[in-house]
Amino acid sequence: MAIQFTDSSVRFGQKTALHPLSLTLAERRIGIIGLNGSGKTTFARLINGLVKPTEGRVTVNGLDTVADDRAVLGEAGFIFQNPQHQLIMPIVREDIAFGLKNRGLTNAEIAAKTNAVLARFSVSHLAGRRVHELSGGETQLVAIASVVVTGPKILILDEPTNQLDLKNRRLVAATIDGLEQQVLVISHDLGLVDGFERVLLFHEGQLIADGQADDTIRRYHEVAGC
Ligand SMILES: Nc1ncnc2c1ncn2[C@@H]1O[C@H](COP(=O)(O)OP(=O)(O)OP(=O)(O)O)[C@@H](O)[C@H]1O
Ligand SMILES: [Mg+2]
Repeated sequence: MAIQFTDSSVRFGQKTALHPLSLTLAERRIGIIGLNGSGKTTFARLINGLVKPTEGRVTVNGLDTVADDRAVLGEAGFIFQNPQHQLIMPIVREDIAFGLKNRGLTNAEIAAKTNAVLARFSVSHLAGRRVHELSGGETQLVAIASVVVTGPKILILDEPTNQLDLKNRRLVAATIDGLEQQVLVISHDLGLVDGFERVLLFHEGQLIADGQADDTIRRYHEVAGC
């Protein structure tokens, strides 16, 4: 089972955000790096169908992101670059529970799953808090919990340590490390992806390096000129 890109490209009007690429992603830990505006988020959004390919196709564990878009959303969970935008209910507990609605679960089952995921990510003490009053680190952990609770097989995290202090960065890094899913992490925090099995480098909408973390990071320093 894998994520497969076949001649996939993305254009927004006249702008090519992603030039055609073909690749298969089957590793457990994959990093995505590159300068601002290089196409990282666009590439990652293709995976759960938030962005559709202008040409070519993308499949996730055999499901097509266009033809099977609803199933793909359940397969691949996405934690946004600004995770406060994905917390939609006012209170943390309600937000986590919201993802479990319409799945034929009883209220007691929903409450049990909500409590379990909050405990797993060490945020039980935030259950009754207002989502928009959480700190950056708390927001990140709650956003991860609210996606993990829905049971995706793949998790995509877009700049998960952005704006976090050293302590919360370490906590989020350890949380990512402990996830059983296939995980893709977009990051400007190169230390976060340094130990990953595979790291992709985007530059001006092109995939220009794809391999071991240290090789790809070295190439990134070259293209960034610093
Ligand atoms: N919905 C959109 N409409 C028009 N242009 C877009 C859209 N989304 C992205 N772009 C453009 O596509 C290019 C790639 O954007 P993308 O968000 O993928 O970059 P990124 O590598 O994630 O950057 P950053 O590190 O700043 O988050 C940019 O030039 C951006 O302005
Ligand atoms: Mg981005």
